[in-house]
Amino acid sequence: MIATNKTILAIESSCDETSAAVVSGDGNLLVKIHSNIIASQVKVHAEFGGIFPDLAAREHLKKIIPTIALALHQANLLDDLQGKGMQVQRAIKKLDAIAVTQGPGLIGSLLIGNNVAATLAYLTKTPILPINHWEGHLYSIFTENSKQVTGNKAQGIGLPKFPILYLTVSGGHTSLILMRGHFQYEVLGRTVDDAAGEAFDKVARMLGLGFPGGPAISQAAQAARSADHKSSIQLPRPKLNDPDFNFSFSGLKTAVLYAIQKGEISLPQDVSTAAREAEEAIVEVLVAKLVRATEKYQPASVSIVGGVAANHWLRSQVQAKIHLPIYLPTFKLATDNAAMIGAAAIFRYVKKQGIKNWRDIAANANLRLE
Ligand code: KG4
Ligand code: ZN
Repeated sequence: MIATNKTILAIESSCDETSAAVVSGDGNLLVKIHSNIIASQVKVHAEFGGIFPDLAAREHLKKIIPTIALALHQANLLDDLQGKGMQVQRAIKKLDAIAVTQGPGLIGSLLIGNNVAATLAYLTKTPILPINHWEGHLYSIFTENSKQVTGNKAQGIGLPKFPILYLTVSGGHTSLILMRGHFQYEVLGRTVDDAAGEAFDKVARMLGLGFPGGPAISQAAQAARSADHKSSIQLPRPKLNDPDFNFSFSGLKTAVLYAIQKGEISLPQDVSTAAREAEEAIVEVLVAKLVRATEKYQPASVSIVGGVAANHWLRSQVQAKIHLPIYLPTFKLATDNAAMIGAAAIFRYVKKQGIKNWRDIAANANLRLE
């Protein structure tokens, strides 16, 4: 490690993944990830067909300490996983800061991460960096694990060039964001109702595909595509031709419901063709707006982040239609994880922006980016 390198322990607990990571960087190169442990609650919530907030908080409480210990262990900072708290404290004292997701998210879940981070910061006299979850997603492409998939790939060795146009797509959020420089964000448009991931999840539930719906829809759609099977119905492409950069996905979900009720989609035989049509409808709108925003704002780089960025069809369509350098997080970095929170924290730490004392942090379920 070079002298100016900073090392940070990051904690993410905003939704249903308990995650801890150790990352390092100097603010000039891509952030290095030494560990990125994710304790997923997917199985716990699958039974309810969605995320159950009280249960999420309880699971975070159970998993957060072992997850942090494992992250320190994998980063070679903690020898004995069964060791005493003093060893954890000694490991943290070697770090420059602790970063934690401040919000937005489920308040019960956020409070656990924030209180554990504050306690560790208090015990070890370590500075703390509260990070916006969305800033974390945006910085997921500032890590060594992200990749540049189009354009002059030689540029991909360094940091993505500003301005960066992002399509941010997750279970709770869909927007187009222009990042002109570090910590400078302009939201160009957002969903007026359901998020893209929510649309995937809700359609999946109606088709009997379970939770989380995105990966299940994607798999079923891929099967239909390989067999060259198409749906006989056409779902709406909401707001496709509107000049603004907002999205709307609730009509699409309703259209699927009506098609099932009218027998235009009969289950289970039409599952994969319906999944294909839903995936193609959602992706068509996302990509069309992204393309239009690149024409208007002329960014130097383009990126897709958030859980839905894991979607293969979306990735392939963006790569086919946009010829600027495109940066994509790996699948692990696309869904919620602590390394992306740590990546944002490295840049904040070296630029001395937002470094706090343990007393001054507070979880905020409705934290905004701008
Ligand atoms: O960013 P994320 O992990 O959590 C939130 O902050 O919401 O995103 C989760 C969302 C879920 O709606 C899930 O269905 C969706 O991302 N997702 C996908 C895929 N993998 C995850 N959607 C479409 N295709 C995928 N392969
Ligand atoms: Zn997220």
